[in-house]
Amino acid sequence: MLEKLQGYYSVELYSEIEYKRFADKTDNVYAKSLYTKLAEDERRHQGILKDIAAFYHPDWRDILVEVKPSTPIQPEKLTITSEVQEAYHAMKFHLKLEFLAVTEYRKTAQETREPKLRDLWLNLASDEERHHREINSLLQAFEKAYKEIIK
Ligand SMILES: [Fe+2]
Ligand SMILES: [Fe+2]
Repeated sequence: MLEKLQGYYSVELYSEIEYKRFADKTDNVYAKSLYTKLAEDERRHQGILKDIAAFYHPDWRDILVEVKPSTPIQPEKLTITSEVQEAYHAMKFHLKLEFLAVTEYRKTAQETREPKLRDLWLNLASDEERHHREINSLLQAFEKAYKEIIK
């Protein structure tokens, strides 16, 4: 379980950093506020994971604090020719990452017998599900607006 928690925590860190970076980069008011909210959520998730960790073992909270950001899947290496393309592929990558998070958190919830703990995992899963939906609609709007550029 500790290894699992460390893995999840590292992705939450990674996602927070990336969403913050996207928020700083975009001039689109809607995208900026979405990315800012996503970053805040991923930060909050780190807190929840620390609470879950502490439930398993008193030392685990401190172990999580040492974890570095990382991602279980890598973004495709593409020849990016414009900022629009870059933003588009970043969104697609994070759509995948959010989907993975939903799957993982839900699976872990199913394996958890303690009801309070299971609810925490389920809450994480449902947040990530909402993230997936939000990024997906941003992606669709983006595809409409930049049809010619992102092909
Ligand atoms: Fe998260
Ligand atoms: Fe997320």
